[in-house]
Amino acid sequence: GVGAAPRGRAPRGAAALTRGPQVLVYDLLFGKGLRCGGRWKALARRHRARLQAELARLKVRHKVSRDEDLLAPAQAASPGGSQVPRYIRVNTLKTCVDDVIDFFKRQGYSYLGKAASVEELRALSGKKFLLDLHLPELLVFPPQTDFHDNLLYTSGHIILQDKASCLPAFLLAPAAGSHVIDACAAPGNKTSHLAAILKNKGQIFAFDVDTKRLATMNTMLMRAGVTGFQLAQQDFLTVDPGDPRYSKVTYILLDPSCSGSGMVTRGLREEPAPSAQRLQALAGFQRKVLSHALSFPALRRLVYSTCSLHQEENEDVVRAVLQEHGSAFRLVTAFPSWPCRGLATFPGAESCLRASPADTLTHGFFVAVLERGGEEAAAPSSLPAAAEENPQHGETAEPRAAPRKRKRKKQRVKE
Ligand SMILES: C[S@@+](CC[C@H](N)C(=O)[O-])C[C@H]1O[C@@H](n2cnc3c(N)ncnc32)[C@H](O)[C@@H]1O
Repeated sequence: GVGAAPRGRAPRGAAALTRGPQVLVYDLLFGKGLRCGGRWKALARRHRARLQAELARLKVRHKVSRDEDLLAPAQAASPGGSQVPRYIRVNTLKTCVDDVIDFFKRQGYSYLGKAASVEELRALSGKKFLLDLHLPELLVFPPQTDFHDNLLYTSGHIILQDKASCLPAFLLAPAAGSHVIDACAAPGNKTSHLAAILKNKGQIFAFDVDTKRLATMNTMLMRAGVTGFQLAQQDFLTVDPGDPRYSKVTYILLDPSCSGSGMVTRGLREEPAPSAQRLQALAGFQRKVLSHALSFPALRRLVYSTCSLHQEENEDVVRAVLQEHGSAFRLVTAFPSWPCRGLATFPGAESCLRASPADTLTHGFFVAVLERGGEEAAAPSSLPAAAEENPQHGETAEPRAAPRKRKRKKQRVKE
């Protein structure tokens, strides 16, 4: 839910710094920029160029290209991240699972078939790999496997994506040919997954506010062979649901900014817990953006996801927005066989799913699937093909009720 930059640790050369300046230097070099003000900020800004040059020199000295490769071995071996396998999603726009399996076999890996349990994934080691037990196009390798330089990755045939992060597009399951919004889309892993499910047939409208992340996303989508998408640098809250361009949007994937408290940072030091104030601000934004998404007139199914462990950003957001929308939308039971459910904080909250390193061997994650209530949506013929083919995708959690017209509030907030 947060930026893509590595977080929560300092590289080797920074160890002698005291905590305050260390955090400042970290934010300046690796984070989203400086959040504080005053004397320290001015000082850090003044030295930004030198610090960046020093970081580049450190990487040259240690013969590494990525910031995270500067981690001290002791930090890199911390528990949590080190247990989560390396998941790769086969990009079916460019290849198929069998061909990728053959490729890795030729590279000396042994293929062990489809996993029967999470325990099998946990036991993986050496040059062995499995097909995931839950997701059909996901291969699982031991935790320390690195494919960043692998030809299949650099050519867009495989996507390095955590298993939990594959759930939203899989559970949205848009039918080929449909119109889909990815509301907070960059850097675009879920957008490319949506395109693969749509088989590049249909239209994806993807929005994000962050120029840098959008540039990365554009490159990634090109590399992955995604077509039929429109990328816009726009605050999703300002996208007009009444605009005729979106009149056929029946699916929305909403993966907004969050505290990122579920992110497993492969060996990185844990981030301090977000303050109550920050959680409140994030939850306020998440409620607004979810409510806005539900106001698109043709919307039939929406997936809301975060990589946060906090109830405030997850169950509480879903409950508040469902209450606001009355019976127009209902929660459906996402992936009934998934072992880890939403916290039972309101009736039906178990329809949501959660993920965690301990229970599902993934990043910490939360997913809720919402569908428009009402008789027309209840008719089986109106369900998208993928959901009909894969009944495990969703089961109604609550009785369907007639949709209620809601006056749309136009809101605009800053995160
Ligand atoms: C969790 S990340 C999205 C990750 C993305 N779905 C993926 O799978 O690659 C959240 C994104 O929301 C974007 N964002 C934050 N506020 C936004 C807004 N008001 N409108 C659109 N995008 C926003 C952030 O810039 C960030 O890229």
